[in-house]
Amino acid sequence: MDTLFTQLIEQLNACDQQHVLQHWQSINDNDKRQLAAQIEQIDLPGIRSLFEQFSQQAEVAPDLSKLTPPNSIRLQQDATISPETAYAQGEKLLRDGRVGVVIVAGGQGSRLGFPHPKGLFPIGPLSERTLFQFVLDKIAGYEVKYETQIPLFVMTSPTVHEETVCYFEGNDFFQRRDRVEFFCQPAIPAVDARTGKLLMKDKAEIFTSPNGHGGMLEAMQSAGILERCESQNIDTLFYGQIDNPLSPTCSPALLGYHSLSESQVTLQTIAKMSPDEKTGNIVAVDDRTQIIEYSEMPNDLATSEDAQGQLKFWAANIAVHVFQTRFLQEIVNSASGLPYHFAHKQVAHIDHQGNPVEPDVPNAIKFERFIFDLLPLAQRTLTVEAARESVFAPVKNASSANFSTPRTSRRGISELHRSWLQQAGCSVADEVIVEIHPTYAVDLPHLLERSDVPDQITENTYLVHPEGS
Ligand code: UTP
Repeated sequence: MDTLFTQLIEQLNACDQQHVLQHWQSINDNDKRQLAAQIEQIDLPGIRSLFEQFSQQAEVAPDLSKLTPPNSIRLQQDATISPETAYAQGEKLLRDGRVGVVIVAGGQGSRLGFPHPKGLFPIGPLSERTLFQFVLDKIAGYEVKYETQIPLFVMTSPTVHEETVCYFEGNDFFQRRDRVEFFCQPAIPAVDARTGKLLMKDKAEIFTSPNGHGGMLEAMQSAGILERCESQNIDTLFYGQIDNPLSPTCSPALLGYHSLSESQVTLQTIAKMSPDEKTGNIVAVDDRTQIIEYSEMPNDLATSEDAQGQLKFWAANIAVHVFQTRFLQEIVNSASGLPYHFAHKQVAHIDHQGNPVEPDVPNAIKFERFIFDLLPLAQRTLTVEAARESVFAPVKNASSANFSTPRTSRRGISELHRSWLQQAGCSVADEVIVEIHPTYAVDLPHLLERSDVPDQITENTYLVHPEGS
């Protein structure tokens, strides 16, 4: 153990992180080995360089003088590709087995305060299906409808991996063991915001957290997923996040617009409710699509209007994308990786004496990659507007908040399904909760094809296909 200590202290000294071994003498041999393995995995010079960038405020600010609205297909405007043509093309891609789904589910879900991976959260307003089931059932609905197979790739992180896989194991992989694959993103240390020192979770472990949803690219590459998709002719990847049960997973229209416009990245978007809505703005700079965070958007730009008196920068990012597999492959082969962003957060840790510290103000810098940093790397992108109520009901916050809570999300699901039923000629009594399982109808066109939709619904009703639940 002495030799191990000497080796480690040398590496740590070189980056001024020797305090990591401060409690070495008081931990057992097993913990020593685990701590040594953790240190080996950390890119110490890389962390130092990130902290230097943070200290020099080297995050590149976007050039706001050049912002234009993105290349888009809007709901109420004629476009060169009609919705029907797009839908038919998307159906063809699905039938031909060219589509895979990537769901990022590696986050810590700290705002929700649910003590399990967020995907296990029961969200079905009547069924109590989990967020994972919402994705799986939607995929199953399209598989049945188009007699196809759609592989699902789920990104986890060291924080949630084991429990997520156990959940799938415990449910026999929802009968799709051959078509679900997990890949785990890396975790990265956080540092003290003043000194750049690594923070110790306890005497034998450095604090780390997942490296942001942008960690998806390298993690997919390390797992060989992109190569395998290409070799299996899966040239189109739908990307969604686990916390939006209305995410339009495999939406034929979105896939079709993407394919017909030969876009490398297509974004499903919704119109902002107001100029100050707290969502990322989808914009273009020199014909490249970018996201400008709401906090970076000056008020005069956020409120500026076009000739029709509509918000000029109308497009809100809901993190629903379609990627060309080849484009992702090109990016991982060529670039040094997506940039890191710096987030000032509260991180509990131990101090030099080994006493726990629970900060009540942000004390640490977390480093995170964002998936949307891919956008400016694409030459051809397309933004497709959808109605907010059809595609967006995220679960972000605990029930005590007043937006993006389990309650608002469940209401959103029921309201959408009510509106589908009404469009199919069914009268649904006020105050009644409805929920439709995707094998009954995976989307509105599917529901309209059914001949057995009830004429009226007067009590809470969960519609399930007789053979599928
Ligand atoms: P959020 O940014 O909402 O983070 O993630 P979160 O961890 O779920 O929740 P908070 O901020 O701690 O409350 C948006 C999506 O990106 C995934 C999440 O699982 C969610 O689907 N994500 C986030 C990752 O997969 N990895 C990450 O490192 C961060």
